[in-house]
Amino acid sequence: MANQEDLFKKIIAHAKEYGFVYPSSDIYDGLSAVYDYGPNGSELKKNIRDYWWKAMVQMHENIVGIDAAIFMHPTIWKASGHVDAFADPLIDNKDSKKRYRADVLVEDHIAKLEAKIDKEIEKAQKRFGDAFDVQQFKDTNPRVLENNKKIEEIKHRLYPAMEKNDMAGIKQLIEDLEIVDPISGSKNWTEVRQFNLMFSTQLGSTADSASEIYLRPETAQGIFVNYLNVQKTSRMKIPFGIAQTGKAFRNEIVARQFIFRMREFEQMEMQFFVQPGTEMEWFKYWKEERMKWHLSTGIDKSSFRFHDHDKLAHYANAATDIEFAFPIGFKELEGIHSRTDFDLGAHEKFSGKKLRYFDNELNESYIPYVIETSIGLDRMFLAMMSAAYTEETLEDGSERVVMKLPPFLAPTKVAIFPLLKKDGLPEKAREILTMLQEDFMCFYEEKDTIGKRYRRHDAIGTPYCVTIDHQTLEDNTVTIRERDTMKQDRISIDEIRGIVSQRLRER
Ligand code: GAP
Repeated sequence: MANQEDLFKKIIAHAKEYGFVYPSSDIYDGLSAVYDYGPNGSELKKNIRDYWWKAMVQMHENIVGIDAAIFMHPTIWKASGHVDAFADPLIDNKDSKKRYRADVLVEDHIAKLEAKIDKEIEKAQKRFGDAFDVQQFKDTNPRVLENNKKIEEIKHRLYPAMEKNDMAGIKQLIEDLEIVDPISGSKNWTEVRQFNLMFSTQLGSTADSASEIYLRPETAQGIFVNYLNVQKTSRMKIPFGIAQTGKAFRNEIVARQFIFRMREFEQMEMQFFVQPGTEMEWFKYWKEERMKWHLSTGIDKSSFRFHDHDKLAHYANAATDIEFAFPIGFKELEGIHSRTDFDLGAHEKFSGKKLRYFDNELNESYIPYVIETSIGLDRMFLAMMSAAYTEETLEDGSERVVMKLPPFLAPTKVAIFPLLKKDGLPEKAREILTMLQEDFMCFYEEKDTIGKRYRRHDAIGTPYCVTIDHQTLEDNTVTIRERDTMKQDRISIDEIRGIVSQRLRER
């Protein structure tokens, strides 16, 4: 655990030092849970966004994209349930003065009980070796049974209390479980109260004519309210999808995990409209498709897992998370939700406009059901950074940090180095830069030794470095050095494009 915490700190420091992510308003000491992306970060983020868009829109003839405004009619958030239900239960500890999400305190308590169960299983596995039957052990071991019973009892109280907005019930649960503040160890808690996560602002210039509007807390509603426009203008037939990427805003209560939980972040969402009754089939389909997409980045499948929801959001009849093994533990990276006809139905009611689809095959009209895939771009960025960050000790005993990003996502594809700053080498190197930069993001550098330049590009994940030396002027060959193997080859200038292109196609 300490190692993982260490790793997380190292990734945050590396992200800043190498121009991936800076605290927002850094010269003013930052703004809590808001971050800016630097030159390498914005490039990596764009590449991830493009990769998602390609997989979802370009590769599906029945999915189209939109780019809706952040400001939306305030009634939309009433209809969607966000005004009334998009709130987290908040609790303060009077001694540490720290604020927590009350449900997360209870869930952390459950996680501790689950960890105890895992430990029992691990111990028994060691004791019994190959003959060990996990299921039988879980079904019969008294300590496992007792902890499972406790977990069930807690869930049985927590979820209905959350459902019914029973803040007193949640407070009672925290007291009964004797949950202490993780920092002060104190049980001196305030009452639990609801805290709406939406940011609001005023639209209009004069105080009396201005109306209160919200910064969207999810991009999905921009898709729902454009459903009819898109379906008609693109002549889409069910089943079909609408995709969108863009900023979302949430006034998160607890946000101290770098870009994992931000107050301003970016989502990549797709709503897939289907015939009522077929939603579970499509839910399963998108679960599998999205997992395949994650695995196509080359990250090992042991870093991902599904987590089916026990507690469903107000709009869902099935939901699962794709969790990723972040340095802070397995946490939600993407949500796949079966949202029924909740949103379109609510917008029909609140707007007074019919949002039905006439199905020629069934010869009837209905409000489509929706399967949603929703991933945080910043979380995907953090997943890629976490998986890529590698510390290596080389044969000569020196150390290097290398970001083993998939080449197609790397911010720079080719770094171009003249060996010396003289003898016509920079001019030749710039010729090669001009030749390649049409096709690839390139970086030209002539300062420092070649070794130092290699290290800098290892640290940002550049797959190839090309060095121009005196021999280049004679025979048009260069040295190309590959990031992961550090292998160097002498090749002709004409071969560079082919080698790099080939590598970028690897999935
Ligand atoms: N439209 C459904 C929706 O918004 P969600 O589970 O609340 O569902 C979807 O959010 C995804 O957005 C999450 O899986 C996560 O990747 C990302 N996300 C949510 N809140 C975030 C935050 N505060 N900071 C960064 N990413 C966040």
